[in-house]
Amino acid sequence: MTENKKLIDWVDQMASMCKPDSVHWCDGSESEYDAMAQKLVQAGAFIKLNEAKHPNSYLCWSDPADVARVEDRTFICSQKQEDAGPTNNWCDPSEMKTRLTGLFTGAMRGRTMYIIPFSMGPVGSPIARIGVQLTDSPYVVCNMRIMTRIGQPVLDTLGNEDFVPCLHSVGYPLTDGKKDVRWPCDAKNKYICHFPETREIWSYGSGYGGNALLGKKCFALRIASAMARDQGWLAEHMLILKLTSPQGEVKYIAGAFPSACGKTNLAMLTPTIPGWKVETVGDDIAWMRFGPDNRLYAINPEAGFFGVAPGTSMSTNANAMAALAKNSIFTNCALTDDNGVWWEQMTPEPPAHLKDWHGRDWAPNTGVKAAHPNARFTAPAAQCPVIAPEWEDPQGVPISAILFGGRRAGVVPLVNEAPTWQYGTFLGSIMSSEKTAAAAGKVGELRRDPMAMLPFCGYHMADYWAHWLEMGNKGGDHMPRIYYVNWFRKDITGRLIWPGYGENSRVLKWVFERCAGKADAVQTPIGNLPAPGSLDMTGLNISSNDLKQLLTADTQGWLAEIPDIKKHYAKFGDKLPQGLRQELTNLEQRLTAAKRMSA
Ligand code: GTP
Ligand code: SPV
Ligand code: MN
Repeated sequence: MTENKKLIDWVDQMASMCKPDSVHWCDGSESEYDAMAQKLVQAGAFIKLNEAKHPNSYLCWSDPADVARVEDRTFICSQKQEDAGPTNNWCDPSEMKTRLTGLFTGAMRGRTMYIIPFSMGPVGSPIARIGVQLTDSPYVVCNMRIMTRIGQPVLDTLGNEDFVPCLHSVGYPLTDGKKDVRWPCDAKNKYICHFPETREIWSYGSGYGGNALLGKKCFALRIASAMARDQGWLAEHMLILKLTSPQGEVKYIAGAFPSACGKTNLAMLTPTIPGWKVETVGDDIAWMRFGPDNRLYAINPEAGFFGVAPGTSMSTNANAMAALAKNSIFTNCALTDDNGVWWEQMTPEPPAHLKDWHGRDWAPNTGVKAAHPNARFTAPAAQCPVIAPEWEDPQGVPISAILFGGRRAGVVPLVNEAPTWQYGTFLGSIMSSEKTAAAAGKVGELRRDPMAMLPFCGYHMADYWAHWLEMGNKGGDHMPRIYYVNWFRKDITGRLIWPGYGENSRVLKWVFERCAGKADAVQTPIGNLPAPGSLDMTGLNISSNDLKQLLTADTQGWLAEIPDIKKHYAKFGDKLPQGLRQELTNLEQRLTAAKRMSA
C-alpha cells in the first residue's frame, strides 16, 4: 500500500472517470501473476503451453487489427507545436485531454482497473525512474511484470516522491450486456499520447506492445528523452552489450537500430570468431549519463525482452531461445499440435500442422505466414544465459562505442567509423532503413530514422540533435566512438551478401580494436573503413566481390543521396544545428572531389 497523496488522488480521479467495477493494486507477487494468467486462460485469451516444453508459459493471439505500434496514432502533446517538431504528430494538450476524457469516461465499465507501480531500472537505483500504470488489461499486467520491476517494493521506494502517471485502457467497456472478447481493443480509435511537460502518458484503444506496455517506448524513450534533455543525459533506442577479447579485455558497446533491425540479436550474439565473448546488458533501451570520470555510463531500464519471434532460432540466436524457454508469454506466434509455439524460421522445416496466429489450421502449403511478422516473446532478461553479471549495476557500464545501423540493400557499407563525435551525430541523424512489421504501415519502404528514434523522440528532433552535440562538447575525448553499420546489403539478385548474426562479431572485433588503437582503417570521403586485412575474415567463406561491395565507400551512391539528405534536413528549418549542416556541406565536398579524382 501507499500513502503517496498524489498517487492516491490520481487513482481516485481516474477511477471515477473510467468507472471500473473494481480496483486492484498489483503487489507484483508470483501468486498474483498466476491468478491473472489463470483468469486469462479461463477467458480464452491465454493458451497454457505444454508444461514439459515451456514451463509456466502462455500463448496469446491478438485482434488482427492490433498487432504493432501505431505511429500515426502516436502524439506528442507539448504546449507548443514547435516543441514536438516536424517528425511527431502533435495536438494541443488540453484539446487532447478533452478528447481523451471523452473516450476514457466509462471505458473500464465491467472490468477491473489494475494499478501497476513500476520501476524503470533496478528498484532504488539512483538512476531508476518510477511510473504507475493504470490498465484494464490483465495481459498488460502480466507483460509488465516481466518487462519491468513492479509491485509493493516499488511503492515502498516511491514513498512520497513523484512518479510518471500512465493511464491505459483497451477501450472496450462491457456495458449493456456486451460480452468480452479474446483481445478487447478499440481498433478505430487508438490514441498513444504523451504530455512531455507534465510527464504524463495516456494510451487508449490498443493492447499491443509499445502501445500498451507504457514503461517501454512511451516512458523510457518518449518521456525519458524529454527528461534527459532537461537533465543532461540520453535516453536511447539502443542495445547494450559487453564484449570480451581473448585476452580478457572488456569493452561495452551500445547500438541503435530501428525496430526489428537486429538489436536483440546483436545483444545476445554468439561470436563465430574464437575466443571472443558477447554478453547482454540490454536489448532495446539505454539510459546513459556521465560518470565521475566524464565517460558515458549506460543502464538498461528494462527487466525483460519483448523480442521479435520470427527469425529467432537455435542457429540465429540460441541465447534468446534459452531465455524464452520458460516463464514467458508469446503473442501472435503459431501453436503446435503438442501445445508448443512455432514461428517462421524457428526450425529448418516447419511442422506439418499448426494453428496459425488467427487460430486457423495451417500447413506448409497454406501459403500464409503461421506467425504474424511482428509476433513477439516476452521473456525475463535474467533467463538469458549470457546476461552480463553487471546488467543490474545501478552505476551502469562505461560505453566505448555506439553503433548506428539500419536495413539498407545498397550504398551503406558494412562498417564505417566516424572520425569525430559531430560527424557520428551527423551519420546518426541521416540514418535510413527499410520499414519493418514492428509498426503498422508499408513494409520495405526506405525512410530516414535518425538514431532509430524517429518514432520515439519525445520532442523536436533537431533539438535532440543539438542535445547530442552538446553532450559531445561536455564529454570531449571521453565520448564513445561512433560507427555506422549495415548487416543487410544485397546484391542485384536480392540476396543478402553478409551472413549477419554471429558473423557480426567480426565487425564488433574491429570496433573493439579500433577503440583500443589496434586495428587499421582507411580514410574515405564517408568515414574510416577497415583497411585491407584489418577485418578478421578467418573461416568465413565470402567472395572477394561481395567483400569489396561491403567494404568500399560507394561515392557515387552517397553523392546520389545528398539531395534526399538535404530534403530531410530542410524539414527542420532553422532548428537544424549548424554543426550538422556543416558536416553535410563537408561531406558533399569530399564526395565531389573524389568523383572528380576518379573521372
Ligand atoms: P525491436 O524489438 O523491434 O526493437 O527489434 P530489434 O532491433 O531487437 O531486432 P531483432 O534483433 O529482434 O531482429 C529483427 C529481425 O531481424 C529478426 O527476424 C532477426 O532474425 C533479423 N536479424 C537480426 N540480426 C540480423 C542479421 O545480422 N542479419 C539478418 N539477415 N537478419 C537479422
Ligand atoms: C519496437 O518496435 O522497437 C519494439 C517493439 O521494441 S514495441 O515494444 O512494440 O515498441
Ligand atoms: Mn525496439
